[in-house]
Amino acid sequence: MQDELAFATKELNNTGFLDIDVDPTLDLFEEINRLKKEKNAIILAHYYQEGDIQDIADYVGDSLGLSQEAAETDADIIVFAGVHFMAETAKILSPDKKVLLPDLKAGCSLADSAPAPLFKLFKEKYPDHVVVSYVNTTAEMKTLTDLCCTSTNAVHIIDSIPKDKKIIFAPDINLGRYLVKKTGRDMVLWNGSCMVHEIFSVEKITKLQIRHPEAKLIAHPECEAVILDRADYIGSTSGLLKYTKESPATTFIVATEPGIIHQMEKSSPEKTFIAAPPNNMCACNECPHMRLNTLEKLYLCLKYELPEVTVPEQIIKDARVSIDKMLDISAKAGLL
Ligand code: 13P
Ligand code: SF4
Repeated sequence: MQDELAFATKELNNTGFLDIDVDPTLDLFEEINRLKKEKNAIILAHYYQEGDIQDIADYVGDSLGLSQEAAETDADIIVFAGVHFMAETAKILSPDKKVLLPDLKAGCSLADSAPAPLFKLFKEKYPDHVVVSYVNTTAEMKTLTDLCCTSTNAVHIIDSIPKDKKIIFAPDINLGRYLVKKTGRDMVLWNGSCMVHEIFSVEKITKLQIRHPEAKLIAHPECEAVILDRADYIGSTSGLLKYTKESPATTFIVATEPGIIHQMEKSSPEKTFIAAPPNNMCACNECPHMRLNTLEKLYLCLKYELPEVTVPEQIIKDARVSIDKMLDISAKAGLL
């Protein structure tokens, strides 16, 4: 076993996770709960994780809720069941804690679409602009950002900027266009997007709407305008979940990563949720990055406290400013 661990640790840079066989007869729920207690660890999971991971987590939420939990926890170890930028944000907010990510290769196409060196050159062309960046960015991008935001608080963040100030919004162009409409602010937009939210099929969704005329179409603002224009409700993952709980409707076509449907079905078991299909052969649209995490990897990560996410001290200091401002504005707006 020691040899296997030594090899897996050495290979971590190639694999992204501890590639060690897990005894299939092990009750992973029991083992993870035991390790959590023993190590004073907390598991934070995003709504896009598989159902089992959501069920074992101490907190399941959207990007904003997860940031706040990471900032406030008194656990010694944070296991982040989400993607790399989320674990980095947790490390920035809780630099003294050990932050673990079950698979280091769980990245994000949206964060990748805004490499910091390129964005720095872009920003230099607009020296008098305030930079608002979606939380789906690397830690380095956050050092180039004045105000961070998530889809839950983006409107509040933009509204907090004086009307005479010009704004750059990065990296999601679909969310950016939606926010231009919603806030009436004429922002300079970076051309990034999320690989999950940009491939929903209008034709297949239209067919579903014909088959289920009573269904509400609900969509995340990272979706393209052609989907958002047809949606009955647009919101962040937590916004979508809240809408399905409060709406008198009983059927919903859900245009976001289908992991959220796990919580929707738990909260409203009598309602029907249909995952909006993408324009490929798949029936649902799972995020390949989010879904790299598995219960086995989560168990190994907690057991061996690897892989760990680290952020250089200076980047933590510089990136934290824009996240703290976001949390402050969100608290004042009653969003936390
Ligand atoms: P929210 O949970 O903040 O809505 O973000 C969705 C997302 O794309 C996370 O990667
Ligand atoms: Fe990134 Fe999109 Fe996956 Fe969210 S769903 S982690 S934005 S690629």
